[in-house]
Amino acid sequence: MQLDPANIPKHIAIIMDGNGRWAQARGHIRIMGHKAGVKAVKAIIETARELGLPVLTLYAFSTENWNRPQDEVSGLMNLLKNYLQSELDAMLKNDIRLRAIGDINGLPADVQDVLHSTIERTRHNKALTLNLALNYGGRNELLHAIREIAAQVGRGDLQSEAITEELVADHLYTSGLPDPDLLIRTGGESRLSNFLLWQASYAELYFTETAWPDFDKTCLLEAILAYQQRQRRFGRTGEQV
Ligand code: FPP
Repeated sequence: MQLDPANIPKHIAIIMDGNGRWAQARGHIRIMGHKAGVKAVKAIIETARELGLPVLTLYAFSTENWNRPQDEVSGLMNLLKNYLQSELDAMLKNDIRLRAIGDINGLPADVQDVLHSTIERTRHNKALTLNLALNYGGRNELLHAIREIAAQVGRGDLQSEAITEELVADHLYTSGLPDPDLLIRTGGESRLSNFLLWQASYAELYFTETAWPDFDKTCLLEAILAYQQRQRRFGRTGEQV
C-alpha cells in the first residue's frame, strides 16, 4: 500500500458506528463496544499524528443519541469524561488541540467542565486539531446559525444580501476549520445520520463494513488510499481537472 504523502486529506471526519453490534456479537453488553471504541479512537489519533493529518472530526454523540437507554447514555458520558481526563497529557505531548462541535451546553455539567478545561489547556497546540462532535446534529447546527444570522438582520446589523456561503460557514460550529475531504462511516450503514450536512457537500464518502472497534491503522490507510484514487471534480468535467 503506497500512500501519496502530498495528497493526505486536510480533514477526515468519521462516523464511528457498529460499537453496539460488535459487543453483542461477542456476548457483551453494548457499553463494552463503546469501551473498545475508545481504544480505536486512540489508535486512529496516533495514526493521524503519524500522517500529519491537520484535522480529525469524530462523531462521538449525536443530538439523537439521548434517545438511547439511560444507562448507555450515562456510560458514554463517563467514557468521554474519563477519556478527556486520561488523555490530556498525551494531547499536550503530541501537540493535539482539542475542539468540540455541537450543543455543548446540553451536556452534563461535569462533562462540560472537563471539556472546557481540556480545550483551554490544549488551545495553543498546532499539529492536529481533534474535533469531537458532541450533542451534535447537522440540522441543529444550521438552525443555530440561521437564528444568529436572522438576529443580526433583525437588529439591522446585517443586510440580507450580505449573507454569503462564507458567512453561513462562519456561523457553524466548525467555523475556521476546512471542510472534510474524506468522510468515513464504519459499521456497514451508508448514510450521513445528520453529520456535517453543510460541510460534507464535496467530501468523498467511504463506507466500510468494519465495526468501529475493529477500525485500526490499516483500515484508515486503506480509506485514505481509496480517497487518493478518486477524482475530485467539484462540478467540473473529468477533462477539466
Ligand atoms: C455508534 O455505535 C457509536 C456511538 C453512538 C458512540 C461512539 C462513541 C465512542 C466510540 C466512544 C467515546 C468517544 C470518544 C471520542 C472518547 P452504535 O452504538 O450505534 O453501534 P450499533 O449500530 O452497532 O448499535
